[in-house]
Amino acid sequence: MAADRLGLPYLGFGVGLRSCHYAHVLARRPPVGFFEIISEDFLRRGGFARHVLAEVCETYPVVMHGVSLSIGSTDRLDLDYLRQLRELADAVGAVWVSDHVCWTGVLGLNTHDLLPLPLTEEALRHVVGRIRAVQDILQRPLVLENPSTYLGFASSAMPEWEFLARMAADADCGLLLDVNNVYVSARNHGFDPREYLRAIPPERVVELHLAGHADRGAYVADTHDRPVADEVWELYRFATSRLPEVSTLLEWDEEIPPFDDLLAELEKARQVHSHAG
Ligand SMILES: [Fe+2]
Repeated sequence: MAADRLGLPYLGFGVGLRSCHYAHVLARRPPVGFFEIISEDFLRRGGFARHVLAEVCETYPVVMHGVSLSIGSTDRLDLDYLRQLRELADAVGAVWVSDHVCWTGVLGLNTHDLLPLPLTEEALRHVVGRIRAVQDILQRPLVLENPSTYLGFASSAMPEWEFLARMAADADCGLLLDVNNVYVSARNHGFDPREYLRAIPPERVVELHLAGHADRGAYVADTHDRPVADEVWELYRFATSRLPEVSTLLEWDEEIPPFDDLLAELEKARQVHSHAG
């Protein structure tokens, strides 16, 4: 399988860097392949958090994951935010910079939610143009993640996997494939998650995400507060059979357990990955 990934390297298995683990990470230097930071946690921030990040960067590759780019919004791109992102990326030597295929607000409002886009030709053109502009400013490829969604637009004219594949080709950007999000959205909308994964162009996928979700019967919520579900491990096995050398990141943002529990979950990912195919 061709593994171009925009020339970006394989980093192995990583976890999100969260403040409750700062002391453990500094003292123990745990065996992870890389750390992913939430970009907004470190923008315009000094103090202890930046000190920890500087230390982490000495030992590990670091990738940046943002939550407020709002690539789908009709607001003008926030040039001040983008300048800060680029400065942070340069300062930490970020191996790549990612965000989500979504919009977070309009008319200057930030809902702090990752809202779904209408999957139309017009939205595709809009997003592609903005990605190209962002990549010019950041001077590096942008990597965009499939969101977890709970509703769609009646005006949508194509499935999400087609939107993402065309977006990545037209904008020449990377994809962050969140396997849990594919599962959550598949359950919420009633599509086949394997059809989704088969349609994603492997050479564009730079990173995989794994996380836990809450199955609430009538819908599935993307909660990041528990271990990865068995169904998602199965989907991950399927995904990694098509994406044998793509870095995997475990997300855990609520009810965060001790670091050793994250390592155990990462070990499970390694096992599933090595037996895929
Ligand atoms: Fe994710």
